[in-house]
Amino acid sequence: MIIRIPTTMKKDQSRRKFISQLSTGTLALSATTSVPVFGTILSHKNDQLAILGGTPIRTAGRIGPSWPYIDERMIEAMVKTTKSGIWSRIQSSNSQVSQLEKEFAKQIGAGYCVGTGSGTQALSTCVEAMGIGPGDEVITSPYTDMGTISSILTSRALPVMVDLDLESYQLDPDEVEKKVNKNTKAIMPVHIMGLPANMERIMAIAKKHGLKVIEDSCQAPFARYQGQAIGTIGDLGCFSFQASKAIACGEGGAVVGKDEALMERCFTVQNRGASRQGKNETIGPKYRMTEFEGTLLLNQLPGAKERFLKRNENANYLTSQLKDFPGLVPQKKYPGTESGSYYHYAWSYHKEHFNGVDRAVFLKAMAAEGVSVGSYIKNGLHREPWVDHILSLNEYKALYTADRIKDYKSELHLPNCDRICNETLVSFWGSGSLLGTTEEMDQIIAAVMKIYDNRNQLKKVS
Ligand SMILES: Cc1ncc(COP(=O)(O)O)c(C=O)c1O
Repeated sequence: MIIRIPTTMKKDQSRRKFISQLSTGTLALSATTSVPVFGTILSHKNDQLAILGGTPIRTAGRIGPSWPYIDERMIEAMVKTTKSGIWSRIQSSNSQVSQLEKEFAKQIGAGYCVGTGSGTQALSTCVEAMGIGPGDEVITSPYTDMGTISSILTSRALPVMVDLDLESYQLDPDEVEKKVNKNTKAIMPVHIMGLPANMERIMAIAKKHGLKVIEDSCQAPFARYQGQAIGTIGDLGCFSFQASKAIACGEGGAVVGKDEALMERCFTVQNRGASRQGKNETIGPKYRMTEFEGTLLLNQLPGAKERFLKRNENANYLTSQLKDFPGLVPQKKYPGTESGSYYHYAWSYHKEHFNGVDRAVFLKAMAAEGVSVGSYIKNGLHREPWVDHILSLNEYKALYTADRIKDYKSELHLPNCDRICNETLVSFWGSGSLLGTTEEMDQIIAAVMKIYDNRNQLKKVS
């Protein structure tokens, strides 16, 4: 049974205190009892957990509207593009892709934008356009999609992974600074979950050491930090429009930046080395976005900001509802974070508040209540086989000294990242699910609180 309690608790009475009062039974709740609280609280004391045969909180399947987002405007535009026979940007001076580039740059306040076939391609384009290559090092996060690392590897540079801030899951700037050496050329912060990394510190470190910054904003379209859009703070920023992302076309990506000459180099690189003027100038793969991708994206941009705002509203609601609850602590935001893209909404799980049971048990109990949450990235990328693979390649052995390779391996001790992957992180996918109704957000909270209130039952779950 869900009991909603009115929002009249005295300001100085914290929810944590209130919850502990509930759990010690000093407040007897019933459907008719009105207990003064701030925020809304849902009590399920003495309910049987669904994982042990009780009634689930939710039976309606995945939270939120169906995904990816599709509307009539997008469908009509796709039909039009198909019928037009203009399927590549080079067939038109006013292509869908070039219109998308202008519109996206305008919406996030970037100077210039170049479309690509994926976020990975966008990142690779930046690495190549900045002239980062064999023998160079790029500092980045181990807690990310392989596309981040791949963009560095395809230029035969060395991705140097540093440990994370345990509470934000973002690069720890102190660790970044420790890893700068004479071969470091750039920092590639990843705005994980679509929330801003600590850009103030990262930009300061980059300035101090003369490094470039490529923002991996693949999860962070429209997010804002200290008055700027994420992706527009560093030298270059990259976005992914892969199917699970907030703005999606299956596979797609974009580079943004304010330096016109550098952005022209990005265009040339992704255009297999040929400039806009048709001169074959440099090394570059063919990473062009197609007109079909451009059409889908251009025609979903009109409502994309509204959906972004809705995700923020729901994320803020969830945060406020579990305020001061010590069992699940929301992803830390750095000062100056104005909004996030919430590719995932994430919490740190503290098992000591759930009768000591491991996160896996909590996840199973949540799934049984009908609310699907997960642990997101299973392994930090420092634990994946590519590390040994590249270090065994003759090219890496030739480019990096034996001492550097030895140190590189020994520096892959990243305990915070391991802890986040193995023990603490709980997240649910935001692109679609954070567009759910308030009632659905309440069900997420209700499932958490039901498990918390009945945590003594968790020991029975194997
Ligand atoms: C943080 C991050 N970086 C890079 C990528 C790579 O983007 P794409 O899948 O579009 O190549 C992704 C996509 O999942 C991502 O989430």
